[in-house]
Amino acid sequence: MYQYTDFDRDFVNARVEEFRGQVVRRLDGSLTEDEFKPLRLMNGLYLQLHAYMLRVAIPYGTLNSRQMHQLAYIAETWDKGYGHFTTRQNIQYNWPKLADVPEMLQALADVGMHAIQTSGNTIRNVTADHFAGAAADEIEDPRPTAELIRQWSTDHPEFQFLPRKFKIAVTGSPNDRAVTKAHDIGLRMVRNEAGEPGYEVIVGGGLGRTPMVGKVIRDFVPKAELLPYLEAIMQVYNLHGRRDNKYKARIKILVHEESLETMRERVDAVFARIKGDFEVPTEILTRIEGSFTAPAYKIAEIAPVVEPALQSFIDTNVAEHKNPDYGIVTISLKGIGETPGDATARQMRVMADLAERYSHDELRISHEQNVVLPHVHRGDLPAVFAALREAGLATANIGLVSDIIACPGMDYCALATARSIPVAQQISETFADLDAQRDIGPLKIKISGCINACGHHHVGHIGILGLDRAGVENYQITLGGDGTETATIGSRTGPGFAYDEIVPAVKRLIEAYLDLRESEEETFLQAYRRLGLDPFKSALYEQEKAHAA
Ligand code: HEM
Ligand code: SF4
Repeated sequence: MYQYTDFDRDFVNARVEEFRGQVVRRLDGSLTEDEFKPLRLMNGLYLQLHAYMLRVAIPYGTLNSRQMHQLAYIAETWDKGYGHFTTRQNIQYNWPKLADVPEMLQALADVGMHAIQTSGNTIRNVTADHFAGAAADEIEDPRPTAELIRQWSTDHPEFQFLPRKFKIAVTGSPNDRAVTKAHDIGLRMVRNEAGEPGYEVIVGGGLGRTPMVGKVIRDFVPKAELLPYLEAIMQVYNLHGRRDNKYKARIKILVHEESLETMRERVDAVFARIKGDFEVPTEILTRIEGSFTAPAYKIAEIAPVVEPALQSFIDTNVAEHKNPDYGIVTISLKGIGETPGDATARQMRVMADLAERYSHDELRISHEQNVVLPHVHRGDLPAVFAALREAGLATANIGLVSDIIACPGMDYCALATARSIPVAQQISETFADLDAQRDIGPLKIKISGCINACGHHHVGHIGILGLDRAGVENYQITLGGDGTETATIGSRTGPGFAYDEIVPAVKRLIEAYLDLRESEEETFLQAYRRLGLDPFKSALYEQEKAHAA
C-alpha cells in the first residue's frame, strides 16, 4: 500500500495544529461562527441537524488494518461508538464535540489520514473501483492513478476556490464499479491500438438536481500526459464555470450549456500550452506504482465447501480475484433492518483483524457503503465467514434487494427533506428472507433524502427520492437507472408516495417484475429495458387506485 512520505506527514500535522488554534479561538469567542465556517469546512467539519459532522477521506477507498482500528478508536472515544461509510469512500462521524475535533484529526494524522478537501469547492477525495488491484476483470490497478491525482490535487493553490465541488473517479476495469460516468471527471484505464496504457476521459457527469451522464472528451490520454490534461480541464472550468448561480456551477452545466466541442477546444488549447512543462516524469509514476504491487499470495490447501450457508455466502458476497486461488470478499453493512453504511467500533475492529490475518492487511470501502477484503485465500473463506457471522457481519445479500444505498436523510442531514434510513430499513425487513432475495436476483435500490442525490437514486434500478410536499414527506420513484459502464439516469414513474405508502409501492414493483420476467435469469433491469415503464407504472398506480376505490 502507498506509504506517505515525511512531507505528507509534516503537512498533515501542521494542518492539525493550525486547526487546533482556530478551534480554541472559536471556543473563546474570538472567532464568530461566520468567520469559523470556511476554516472548519477546509477541514471536513460540517454543522448538521443535531451536531457537528466530521467527514474523513479514505483515498480510493483503501485502508490498512491499523487505520481501520484507528477509525474504531475515534468512533468510541469521541463519537457514539459508530461511523457511517458513504457513497464517496469517506467515513462520517455524526456526533463529535467541537473541542474534540483537533484530537480526532490528530488521531487520524497518526495513521496517515485526514479530512482535508472532504468539503468545500475543491477537488474532493478521489474515488476508485473498490476491487482495484484484485479484480479478475481488471486491465490495470487504478489506485496509482488515483494516488497521483491525490498528490496533485491536495492543497493545489489554484483549485481551492473552484466554482463548485469537484469529484474524480477512476476505474481500471471495463466493468465500471466506480460510477465514473456520474462524476465531474471519470477516468477509464484503456489501452490504445499499440497496446500502451492510458485513459479515456469522461467529463460532465453528475447527479444532484440536474443529473447527467458524462461524455467522452478524449478517447486516449497517455499516462504521462494525464496530469497536464486534468490541469487543463480544471483551468477551463475554473475560468468559465458559472459562479453566478450555485445550482449551475458544476462542470456538467458548462459542458451542457457550451457544448462538449467548445469544452474540448478550450481544454486542448490550454493543454498544448502547459503540456511541456508539466508532464509527469516516469520515475514518479514508477515509484507510485511500486507501492501498489500485488501482495505475496500464499499457496495453501482449499477444502471443498460443504456448509450450505457458507456456499450461499460465497455465491453472493465473494467475487472473482485475478489469482484463482483467491476471492474478493464483500462484507455487507446492510444487515436486515440495519442502517446502510453504519459500522460499530466493534465491527470495525473485527474487520480490521480479519484484514490483517486473512487479507494481506488491506480493506476497501465501496461506494455502495460496504467493506471489502480484497485478497482472501479461498482456503480461508470458512474461517472468515465464521468470524463475520459471529460479529453479525455475514449477511449474504450483496447486489440484492436489501443491499440498499441510503444517504443519512432527515435522521442527520440539515438539507434533508425526508427520511431515507427508515425507508431502507423497512424495505430490507420486507424482504428479509435471503432465499426470496436470491430469487428476485440482482437489484439496486438507492435512496436520497433530498434532491442533492447523495444516495445516488438517479442511478438505482429503483431510485427513491424523498421530498417535502407542504410539510409532508413524499417519495418519488425513478426506474431503470444504472451506475455502471452502461450508465443511465432513471425515469420518473409519476406522482410520489406518502411515507407509509412507499414500501408497499416498492413491493408492488418487485412483484410486477416477478410476474413479468421472461425467465429467472432476466434481471429487474433487463426486464425494465425490455418492457419499458408502462407495466411497472400500472403496478404502481392502477392497483393503488383499485385499492383506494
Ligand atoms: C450529511 C451531510 C451532507 C451534506 C450537507 C451533503 C451535501 C450535498 C450537496 C449540497 C450535494 C449537491 C451538490 C451539487 O450537485 O452541486 C451533494 C451531492 C452528493 N453527495 Fe452529499 N451531502 C452530505 C452527505 C453525503 C453522504 C452521507 C454521502 C454518501 C452517502 C454523500 C455523497 C454525495 C454524492 C455521491 C453526491 C452526488 C451528486 C454529485 O456530486 O454529482 N453526501 N451532497
Ligand atoms: S441527499 Fe440530501 S438528505 Fe441525503 S445526505 Fe445528501 S444532502 Fe443530505
